[in-house]
Amino acid sequence: MRRLSNSAATSHPDLLVGIGTADDAGVYRLNDDVALVQTVDYFTPIVDDARDWGRIAAANALSDVYAMGATPLTALSIVGWPRDSLSFDLLGDVLEGGADVLTEAGCTLLGGHSIDDKEPKYGLAITGLVSPDRIITNAAGRPGDRLILTKPLGTGIITTAIKRQLASEEMIRGAVEAMTTLNAGAGAAMRRIGVAAATDVTGFGLLGHLGEMARASGVSAVIEFSRLPVFEGVLELAAADVIPAGSQRNLQAVARFTRFGDRNVSEQILLADAQTSGGLLIAVDAPLTAALLQALEEEGVTGHDIGELTERSFEDGPGSVVRVQ
Ligand code: CO
Ligand code: CO
Ligand code: CO
Repeated sequence: MRRLSNSAATSHPDLLVGIGTADDAGVYRLNDDVALVQTVDYFTPIVDDARDWGRIAAANALSDVYAMGATPLTALSIVGWPRDSLSFDLLGDVLEGGADVLTEAGCTLLGGHSIDDKEPKYGLAITGLVSPDRIITNAAGRPGDRLILTKPLGTGIITTAIKRQLASEEMIRGAVEAMTTLNAGAGAAMRRIGVAAATDVTGFGLLGHLGEMARASGVSAVIEFSRLPVFEGVLELAAADVIPAGSQRNLQAVARFTRFGDRNVSEQILLADAQTSGGLLIAVDAPLTAALLQALEEEGVTGHDIGELTERSFEDGPGSVVRVQ
């Protein structure tokens, strides 16, 4: 999406996080103690079960709030529905799935808006609250920080396999389970440890979101491929050309700033795979890594130490930000 240039509409003394750093959500200070965190996300169906789609869309929309270290408060739904070809019962299932996840998050649905649409679309605008001095952004990474990822990669490839009827029941179950899991526990662990920098891994893939974090923080990054959590069977699907168009586009974009070493094309696709409701990518002060992993575990979340942020370096060529090894 084209970024809006700086104008009165995009700058204000109380605007703490705006569109300038491509962060997960915008943050606006109400007073010294409270800031609003706002974000919106919606998409077309990615799984066959209507209720699961609703649950995934809600977990995905809430994720940006958790990535900022905030607590979700209220939600508004956005619906596009082909009223002539799909029943309202089915829409009811989608909305119920979404409501279930909002309930789990302690987030109150205030209302929403729906339009007639050729293709079903569903998502939510979420408002959360955070203390202005405890905001977690993608711009606060420091050289030496370890990078922790909280969900396996490959949901873009798996949802494409679902559309082509190539995904096993077990594979679908695992991916749906991960995509409907709130990043609330990961957010709570970050707040407890005092993490300053994080983002969630969604449509631009691991490298896309890591690249934005590195640019916003003025650092470079190293990813250790062998440490990445990956859904079983995903690399095999990628090798068989089961690749979402979005992940292909992501790879072209991230290739401009990534040195892939000897990673093959399937591995590169995985690193760029467009995720839905992916995990948090947390940059933690290295001495606090063990404490964060422990806090995550106490929240029922498995954190994977996948690499580190480094001093900004152009030794791999102009524009290089991320190195994979
Ligand atoms: Co995000
Ligand atoms: Co988002
Ligand atoms: Co953020």
